[in-house]
Amino acid sequence: MLGRVACLALVLSGWCAGEDVLPPGPLSGAVAGAVTFSTTLKPPQSLFLSVRWSFKEDNIITSTSTNITDPKYANRISLDRATGALELRNLVLADTGEYTVTIIPDAGLPKQGKTTLNVYALITEATITSSPAAILIEDKSSANLSCEALGSISTIEWMKDKRPLRPSGRVTFSVDNKTVFLQPVHSSHHGTYQCRVSNPVSTVTVARDLTVNFGPHNISIIGPSAAAPGQRVALECTADSVPPANFSWMFNGNDMRVNNSVYTIERFEVERMGNYTCTARNMVTMLENSTVLNLKASCSAPQWSYLLLLISAIIRS
Ligand SMILES: *[C@@H]1O[C@H](CO)[C@@H](O)[C@H](O)[C@H]1NC(C)=O
Ligand SMILES: *[C@@H]1O[C@H](CO)[C@@H](O)[C@H](O)[C@H]1NC(C)=O
Ligand SMILES: *[C@@H]1O[C@H](CO)[C@@H](O)[C@H](O)[C@H]1NC(C)=O
Ligand SMILES: *[C@@H]1O[C@H](CO)[C@@H](O)[C@H](O)[C@H]1NC(C)=O
Ligand SMILES: *[C@@H]1O[C@H](CO)[C@@H](O)[C@H](O)[C@H]1NC(C)=O
Ligand SMILES: *[C@@H]1O[C@H](CO)[C@@H](O)[C@H](O)[C@H]1NC(C)=O
Ligand SMILES: *[C@@H]1O[C@H](CO)[C@@H](O)[C@H](O)[C@H]1NC(C)=O
Ligand SMILES: *[C@@H]1O[C@H](CO)[C@@H](O)[C@H](O)[C@H]1NC(C)=O
Repeated sequence: MLGRVACLALVLSGWCAGEDVLPPGPLSGAVAGAVTFSTTLKPPQSLFLSVRWSFKEDNIITSTSTNITDPKYANRISLDRATGALELRNLVLADTGEYTVTIIPDAGLPKQGKTTLNVYALITEATITSSPAAILIEDKSSANLSCEALGSISTIEWMKDKRPLRPSGRVTFSVDNKTVFLQPVHSSHHGTYQCRVSNPVSTVTVARDLTVNFGPHNISIIGPSAAAPGQRVALECTADSVPPANFSWMFNGNDMRVNNSVYTIERFEVERMGNYTCTARNMVTMLENSTVLNLKASCSAPQWSYLLLLISAIIRS
């Protein structure tokens, strides 16, 4: 008995620790939630002589034949006398810190365990704000996207159109990842941004669309390079542009007074061969670009058979 008391003194002073009876930590808990400090011990044949839990050296509960519980914890704890496990409820941020359990079994050496509890406030009310509020134009404007949230923020990650957003020449992040700097904005920055704010007990994801006005880029005319007389021909002009481009058409330099993306020739004639120019205009960036399709007349089957007859007539003569 004397030896055990001596060893208890050593345990309490940090010596004679023996095996650690708590699994490796740290444990995570949410504000207003609960956490259970389980031990690695199996219920013994005869009850432990004493179980003591402390927080940063202050007694929470010392359970022998009687219980000495700190009044602050009276309604917040449950002790499992068989395994030494402790449940702590109604967590507050100030519960973050180191917990120690000291168990004196009926037979054998005293056991001790230490672990750390981290309490986090749940993340709520995440928002993305974009500045400036003004219209953004490719290469001319810069923008900052900021992610704000309430709660204990451990990490912030950004995604664009559901893919991770990485730093690049024009994209940089603040050290805490709260702000993304787009300097200057690029057409590839147009889209939906997501900010994922997390801590070990909660994750909130918020999304915001960013409009970057750009273009027209990549202007091209889709259509045949040759057509046969009588054929219906449709030429379609495309451009990558935000907002969508406005189109106009010229034929050999003359305005055709067509403002659709598609220009249609109902019946192709030889007089309609030549240069078709599509001009795309972006009414916000005030930029325009154009492209030309040279439409030729194709030699149709009747013409070919006429030519063959002509050649055979020349050979025979
Ligand atoms: C001490 O607390 C434990 C765990 O809550 C309980 O099982 C036991 O009955 C209590 N003992 C006394 C004497 O109140
Ligand atoms: C973006 O943030 C940087 C650094 O805080 C600041 O200097 C700059 O004026 C901001 N730009 C905009 C467009 O808000
Ligand atoms: C910042 O974001 C990067 C990439 O998503 C991530 O690896 C890093 O852990 C984040 N840092 C912080 C402090 O959130
Ligand atoms: C222009 O076309 C290229 C090649 O297809 C593509 O990579 C690029 O994203 C396009 N530009 C825009 C602004 O869409
Ligand atoms: C440009 O096109 C849009 C729709 O694409 C249309 O609403 C607008 O009136 C057009 N503007 C001009 C000047 O043609
Ligand atoms: C086509 O657009 C031009 C300017 O791009 C405008 O002057 C013209 O009135 C428009 N024509 C029609 C038929 O809408
Ligand atoms: C069409 O454009 C080509 C190349 O720019 C030029 O050589 C040709 O003379 C043009 N044709 C007409 C009918 O304007
Ligand atoms: C216009 O389009 C052509 C062909 O796509 C491209 O080479 C040129 O750089 C563009 N010009 C402008 C000012 O965007």
